[in-house]
Amino acid sequence: EYKRRKEMFRAHDLAAKYYHHILMNTDVGLPALRYLEERGITRTTMEAFSLGYAPQGWDVLLKFLLKRGFQEDLLLEAGLLSESANQKGRCFDKFRHRVMFPIQDGQGQVIGFGGRVMDKDAKPKYLNSPETPLFHKGRHLFNLHRARPDMRRVGQVIVLEGYMDVITAHQHGIGHVVAALGTALTVDQVRLLQRNVQEIVMMFDGDEAGQKAALRSLDVVKESGSEVKARVATIPDGMDPDEFLGTYGKEAFTRVVLDNASSTTTFRMLALRKDFNLATQQGREDYIKSVISQVLSTVQSPVELETHLKELSEEFGYPREALLEEVALTRKKAP
Ligand code: UTP
Ligand code: MN
Ligand code: MN
Ligand code: MN
Ligand code: MN
Repeated sequence: EYKRRKEMFRAHDLAAKYYHHILMNTDVGLPALRYLEERGITRTTMEAFSLGYAPQGWDVLLKFLLKRGFQEDLLLEAGLLSESANQKGRCFDKFRHRVMFPIQDGQGQVIGFGGRVMDKDAKPKYLNSPETPLFHKGRHLFNLHRARPDMRRVGQVIVLEGYMDVITAHQHGIGHVVAALGTALTVDQVRLLQRNVQEIVMMFDGDEAGQKAALRSLDVVKESGSEVKARVATIPDGMDPDEFLGTYGKEAFTRVVLDNASSTTTFRMLALRKDFNLATQQGREDYIKSVISQVLSTVQSPVELETHLKELSEEFGYPREALLEEVALTRKKAP
């Protein structure tokens, strides 16, 4: 009920402040501070995102919050504690020895955390809050409340994969960035974004997983029925936005990655290319048939369709009338 939720918000707020204090002001937090500094994060940025450190030990946060009058069962339901698998009713801190990234809702209230290991091989790399009355993974976006003014000013949002991508972008003065807290965008997340911007630029990691997530997110935007424009920016060399910004800086990020973002149609066509051997006549023919049935036959705008038919025609040497006929046939078969 309402009062319990309020208590959960308060517990998250206190936990975030506590983790942050440990990171910034204590010896226990030093390894985490060094870790973030080594990754190029400034103290100003750590303050802006209220980054923190959850110490080693089973009941550090538990004791801290019990002293402040919270009930164990509430903290468990809020996802701040975990329950022992073999001793029911025995609770311990969910996050231990991790760098903490508070996740806030649209109003800026802390509703959950992501916690990163510092040791290379420890698993999972990021531990996230479970689904709780406050936190539903697919219904929030990391950094939305902070990014909103910039999103409205620019009319655009850049959707990145991870916490560190958002934080590094912010530190480089790119404020209209959010992360999807999972892999692909959800319909709920698209709705949150389209209220504020005319255009969503997906900028997932340059690896295969990232490219798949981008494709899936495009489907979700379409499924959402939103009028919002979507484009996909591809980061070269399998890098992620954090690595790219750290290596090449903001100017290259804008010029090479952001300004070259592909339209939805172009990105889908590019993605399909990988499935065919364009060195053979059969491969080229199969590719064109797939592009038409899977991508171009769904393009509503005749002008946009014409642009792509012309491209295809020039690259592969088929007359554009034949390509258009193929589009018409596909549409007749599957209206
Ligand atoms: P990545 O594996 O690309 O991590 O996952 P990253 O963001 O580049 O993190 P760093 O640079 O190694 O610190 C992208 C996002 O997927 C989620 C996190 O939100 C992460 O930021 N993720 C990833 C998890 O929730 N758990 C995991 O174990 C890994
Ligand atoms: Mn502070
Ligand atoms: Mn990734
Ligand atoms: Mn990444
Ligand atoms: Mn990364």
